[in-house]
Amino acid sequence: MTARKIIIDTDPGQDDAVAILLALASPEEIEVLGITAVAGNVPLPLTQKNARIVCELAGKTDVPVYAGCDVPLSRKLVTAEHVHGKTGLDGPVLPDPSMPLTDGHAVDFIIHTLRAQDAGTVTLCPLGPLTNIATAFQKAPDIVDRVQEIVLMGGAYFQVGNITPAAEFNIYVDPEAAEITFKSGVPIVVMPLDVTHKALVTKPRNDAFRALGTKVGIAVAEMTDFFERFDKEKYGSVGAPLHDPCVTAYLIRPDLFTGRHINVEIETQSELTLGMTVADWWRVTDRAPNAMFMGDLDADGFFALLTERLAHL
Ligand code: RIB
Ligand code: CA
Repeated sequence: MTARKIIIDTDPGQDDAVAILLALASPEEIEVLGITAVAGNVPLPLTQKNARIVCELAGKTDVPVYAGCDVPLSRKLVTAEHVHGKTGLDGPVLPDPSMPLTDGHAVDFIIHTLRAQDAGTVTLCPLGPLTNIATAFQKAPDIVDRVQEIVLMGGAYFQVGNITPAAEFNIYVDPEAAEITFKSGVPIVVMPLDVTHKALVTKPRNDAFRALGTKVGIAVAEMTDFFERFDKEKYGSVGAPLHDPCVTAYLIRPDLFTGRHINVEIETQSELTLGMTVADWWRVTDRAPNAMFMGDLDADGFFALLTERLAHL
């Protein structure tokens, strides 16, 4: 089986970090062509730095990291230091990166890569607000049909909002970018809160990360120790939800996930429900399906895969 070529678009973020580590630990299945940072959990200077910290933690400093958009398409940036800490990677003490940021804008890297690679062979994996993706599609409409698939973390239906009563963070930060993405016609797989809230790092699962005894295993356990407090306080969760690793786990083991191919629209007008993913889960409208919207996962299988792969780094 040839490895799937992907671009990871990300706003690290502890859960982004674990998603990136899982991808870098799985070269048989995933070839990371590049990592593009976007403003989200924390401002761009930190997300691009954190992406490089994670590559160095994985010992994969040959992966190019680009800085992308530092503000949403048409709104002020909203960040989430209350969840991820002021650095965005609070928890472990990790050295500043020595690998350089790669020259060039992330959006231009996305455009160039999609034009250079054979059509239908590159998957985009957004783990944060969709600003870079939408900007690339606006700047170079010819690349849209060249994208193999978009597999993203964002949105919610049964779980409704985590940043407002109606909206999930990644979509809420840049709803206009999300609307462009969901209306692009590119095949989309969505990992919403409905499924990521079932990927909870219980204590035995976090102990298994720590028991790896490696730099990576211990760092992931320390990230989770920090990252879990928001969801424990807010939802009474038994552990941190590993939102973004659901994206890279899907690329390796899609059978771990179940969902429905339905219509998903994005609220961009109402301040009350701004950023809501209006998912027609019950197919009560005649709106055309545009996304594979996941609803469940085999959590034990997910954590077994993640722990086994992290041991490779
Ligand atoms: O709502 C969860 C999402 O927002 C995750 O991707 C997390 O990293 C933040 O970006
Ligand atoms: Ca993220």
